[in-house]
Amino acid sequence: MLGTPGQLGGDLLDEGMRQGLEMVGRTQWECDITDGAAVERAIAEVRPHAVINGAAWTQVDAAEEHEADAEAVNATGAGLVAAACASAGIRCCHVSTDYVFDGTATAPILEDAAASPRSAYGRTKWHGEVAVRERCPDHLIVRTSWLYGRQGPNFVLTMLRLAAERPEIQVVADQHGAPTWTGHLAPALLRLLEVGPPGTYHLTNSGVTTWYDFAVAIISARGLPAEVVPITTAEYPLPAARPAYSVLDNRAWRELGELPLPEWQEGLRSYLASLEAAGPI
Ligand SMILES: NC(=O)c1ccc[n+]([C@@H]2O[C@H](COP(=O)([O-])OP(=O)(O)OC[C@H]3O[C@@H](n4cnc5c(N)ncnc54)[C@H](OP(=O)(O)O)[C@@H]3O)[C@@H](O)[C@H]2O)c1
Repeated sequence: MLGTPGQLGGDLLDEGMRQGLEMVGRTQWECDITDGAAVERAIAEVRPHAVINGAAWTQVDAAEEHEADAEAVNATGAGLVAAACASAGIRCCHVSTDYVFDGTATAPILEDAAASPRSAYGRTKWHGEVAVRERCPDHLIVRTSWLYGRQGPNFVLTMLRLAAERPEIQVVADQHGAPTWTGHLAPALLRLLEVGPPGTYHLTNSGVTTWYDFAVAIISARGLPAEVVPITTAEYPLPAARPAYSVLDNRAWRELGELPLPEWQEGLRSYLASLEAAGPI
C-alpha cells in the first residue's frame, strides 16, 4: 500500500489487518512514488501480490498554482508505480477521482464516460489514469468521490470543527456528488483486488447529495446548534473549479455480482460512530 498514512491508505491498512491480510504500508518518506528506483526497491523488498497506490497530491486548490508538482505525483509517479508493477508481474490498483469529469452530466456517470477535467488536480489525476492503463496491463483504476476517513482532513471533520466555532456555516448547495466513507470503500477495494478483471471501476457510497445537505446531515447527527446556510458555488469562489455533478455509477462493480456500497447516510452514521468509539485522534 503506497500513500500511507493518508485517509484511504490508513483505513485500508486497518481493514486489511481486520481481515487477517498481510498488508505493508509505505509512507512518502519510505517510498516516494516520483522516484522510480525507490518504488522498484520497495516492491523487491516486500514482494507483494499487488500494489495499491493511494499516494497522491490531493490539495485541489493548491494544484492550480503547482500543477507541475501535482503532475509529478499524480501522473508521472502513478506511471512509475504501474511500470514497476508490470515489471514485477503484479497487479496495480490505482485510486482516482470523480474530478476527472467536468460536471455537466445529469445522471450517474459510467466508467467509460469521456473524461474532461476542469481543474489542474483533475487533469493530473486523468494523466495518471492514462499512464497506468498504458504501463500496466493488469491494472484496476478505482475512481471514488468526496472521500472521508479517520485520518482527515476531510469535509466531515471540518464541518464539526466549524460548528463548534461558529453559529452559522455557509455551504455550497449546487454541487452534487456521493460522499464516500473509507470504511465502506476499503473492504470493497480489497474485494475488487481479488475478483475484478483489469479495468476501470467506480466505487462510492450509494445515493446523491449536495455539500449543503451533507453538512446539514453532519451537524444534525451530532445535535449541534450551528445553522447551515445554503450558498452557490459562485458565492464561494475557490481557485479550482469543482464539478457541479459528479455522481459515479458503480455499474462495473455491480456487474461483478457485488452489492452496491451502502447509502451515503449510512456511511456518515458509521463514520461518526467510529470516531466516537476511537476517541480523540
Ligand atoms: N479526498 C478525496 O475527497 C478524494 C476523492 C476522490 C478520490 N481521491 C483519491 O483517493 C486517493 C487517496 O486520497 P486521500 O484522501 O486518502 O489522500 P491523502 O489523505 O491526501 O493521502 C495521500 C497520501 O499520499 C502521500 N503522498 C503524497 N505525495 C507522495 C509521494 N510523492 N510519494 C508517496 N506518497 C505520497 C501523502 O503523504 P503526506 O501526507 O506525507 O503528503 C499521503 O499519505 C488519492 O488518489 C485521491 O486522489 C480522494
